[in-house]
Amino acid sequence: MYKDYKFIDCTEKYHSVMQFDKNKNVFVHRWYPFVEGYSKEFIEDILGELPFAPTCALEPFCGSGTTPVELQNHGIKCYSFEVSPFMHLLSTVKLGRKYNVDTFTYYVKAVTKKLSRTSRNIRKIESLPFGDTIVKKEQSKKWNFHDTAIDGILDVRHAIRTIVDNDDYKNLFTIALASIIIQASNMFRNGKCLSYKKGWETRIFSRKDIHNFFLDRLNSIFTEDIRIISKQNPSVQNSEICYLGDVRKNIQQVPDREVDLIITSPPYLNSRDYTDIYMLELKVLQLINSYEELRELRKNTLRSHVQVPYGKVFPIANERLKNSLLEMSNKELNTWNTDITNMICAYFEDMQFLFSEFAKKMHKGGVIYFNVANSAYYGVEVPVDYIIADIAESCGFKVREIRKARDLKTSPQQSDKIGKLRESVIVIDYQ
Ligand SMILES: C[S@@+](CC[C@H](N)C(=O)[O-])C[C@H]1O[C@@H](n2cnc3c(N)ncnc32)[C@H](O)[C@@H]1O
Repeated sequence: MYKDYKFIDCTEKYHSVMQFDKNKNVFVHRWYPFVEGYSKEFIEDILGELPFAPTCALEPFCGSGTTPVELQNHGIKCYSFEVSPFMHLLSTVKLGRKYNVDTFTYYVKAVTKKLSRTSRNIRKIESLPFGDTIVKKEQSKKWNFHDTAIDGILDVRHAIRTIVDNDDYKNLFTIALASIIIQASNMFRNGKCLSYKKGWETRIFSRKDIHNFFLDRLNSIFTEDIRIISKQNPSVQNSEICYLGDVRKNIQQVPDREVDLIITSPPYLNSRDYTDIYMLELKVLQLINSYEELRELRKNTLRSHVQVPYGKVFPIANERLKNSLLEMSNKELNTWNTDITNMICAYFEDMQFLFSEFAKKMHKGGVIYFNVANSAYYGVEVPVDYIIADIAESCGFKVREIRKARDLKTSPQQSDKIGKLRESVIVIDYQ
């Protein structure tokens, strides 16, 4: 028999706060529009309901840094981990508080001047991002950037590299550049992948247009926010404890029994590969420079997608998981040991490992807020929230409740078999 958990419908409370969209005009969070994050209200809501004042938090899947940034704003120390060099750069820049208006203004003026006199052949001094689809080649049917757009981006990258001689500001300006890359490209983020914008062939930005996109960002929201940051003196600094790398390998950086709060949203079991969605940023900012580096990065990500082969993975001892796999094999032949079933097994193996580590890091009385969503494969809904609740209990935690946050759309392949997929927040105590 399955263990049952208290289940509460919190769709009214969580409906809008689970989307990063709410952050798009919010101080610092607005520096880069991230799609897969939750809003700062989610964090504030948790802090509002906690019966104790947390002293040390952990965010294993930092993403754009919403958790450590917002906790820092509330004076709470937070260890965080992020495997993607782009997301890690974004988070540490947002956590940085060493900026001041005068230095920022000095660099903006110097970069503006540099961009008013750019080199005719920028590609001789700034290399193109790696890959076959970046610009139009002889046989190309589609390409990510028109020539003038990528040259404008290379101008900006060159100006940052040669003018901004302080690493904090160099990284800050790099994030301002990152925030216009999609706008400058022929692509848009379309759920799990990048797709071509309608009419991309004829919408061509000049080099000057690109410089202006970048300078407009610096002169508007970045200037406004740096002015506020200059006057602040935060009591904690979470940037030095925001670690780059695979949390499964690096979590030992967190001292045992120090954590009293974990807030996180791991990659969902939905085959979404974050390296794909943020590929242009990774390439243009030269954070990934070859297919080997890309493969290495993918190998270090949580096993929630099928971009790298995992080999045969056996299911962890969990009845709900075994039943889901059985249902899949009853619905469709040959589902056993496919890339998908291996990914499903590997995902929960990773979760089990993480919860066993959380149990070492937390001290008694600590709480975990774990935001996940269910998935569907071969016409079967995998109850990810309930399986993770079981895993947490098997690692010594007590599940207080599962809160339904939202209904998410299923993929087009599953939509005729499965209606909507539940997104939840699992509240877990360590007693
Ligand atoms: C759903 S996002 C987190 C969003 C975050 N809560 C926010 O508001 O920005 C999940 C993140 O986990 C990262 N990730 C995936 N595998 C990881 C791993 N093994 N270690 C650390 N981070 C990982 C992804 O790169 C992605 O940025």
